[in-house]
Amino acid sequence: MKIEVRNTREEDVPAIIDLCRRVYPASPPWGEKQIRSHLEIFPEGQWVAIDNDNELVRGMAASLIVWWNDYEDDDDWRDFTDHGMFTNHDPDDGRTLYGAEIMVDPAAQGHGIGKEFYKKRRELAERLGLLRIRAGARLRGYHRYADQMRAEDYVVKVVREELGDPTLTFQLHQGFHVMKVVRDYLRHDPESLGWAALIEWINEAVATPEDYRYRNPRFQR
Ligand SMILES: CC(C)(COP(=O)(O)OP(=O)(O)OC[C@H]1O[C@@H](n2cnc3c(N)ncnc32)[C@H](O)[C@@H]1OP(=O)(O)O)[C@@H](O)C(=O)NCCC(=O)NCCS
Repeated sequence: MKIEVRNTREEDVPAIIDLCRRVYPASPPWGEKQIRSHLEIFPEGQWVAIDNDNELVRGMAASLIVWWNDYEDDDDWRDFTDHGMFTNHDPDDGRTLYGAEIMVDPAAQGHGIGKEFYKKRRELAERLGLLRIRAGARLRGYHRYADQMRAEDYVVKVVREELGDPTLTFQLHQGFHVMKVVRDYLRHDPESLGWAALIEWINEAVATPEDYRYRNPRFQR
């Protein structure tokens, strides 16, 4: 598979909507208005992975900059993205790149595309001198264990690699640590049952010792 990751363009919009339908057949896809809003507001923070063999969009990642003091740690996805429109993007005050979405076509998962998206995000954060990247990692495997353990205990097991989670394990491999476990992040999600891990990657080039205070010992390996 020959994949090129580049910033999203207007002409990619219909193919991104098709991709959403392949990744999440049971959920409404990103809307055209939302994707166009991302491109207007923060084009540098949006990427697609193009399959050079057939020009298919195999993945997408969407990001914005937020000023964390405007939020509570347990705000939900709609708060952090202004209902998916990114109109809360705040490049003047914000020091946090927020990972609003990342998805890879099921037919192309496990080929390093997700990893490449995170490389792009880290490079962008470094170039803009941002302090960190944060995101909500939906606990997609939790529904299998919900009758056996609390979400916090599930996360501890995923961090220790005693269990694998389809999303959080991937994020931890990208250098993130878990700050806390939050409920009602993505409501009505049957896989995570609404639970997510608030995760963080720190830009060591600009961080001060104080900026590492969100490392929660309970969720350290
Ligand atoms: C999560 C997702 C984006 C990962 O993308 P991907 O292109 O398949 O991941 P990569 O091939 O780049 O893998 C990167 C690393 O994560 C690991 N990884 C990826 N998916 C994994 C999984 N399901 N379980 C365990 N580890 C996984 C890989 O082993 C690899 O580890 P390495 O860096 O040590 O080699 C992709 O599986 C996806 O789109 N899933 C559905 C949508 C989703 O859950 N999005 C996140 C919403 S919060």
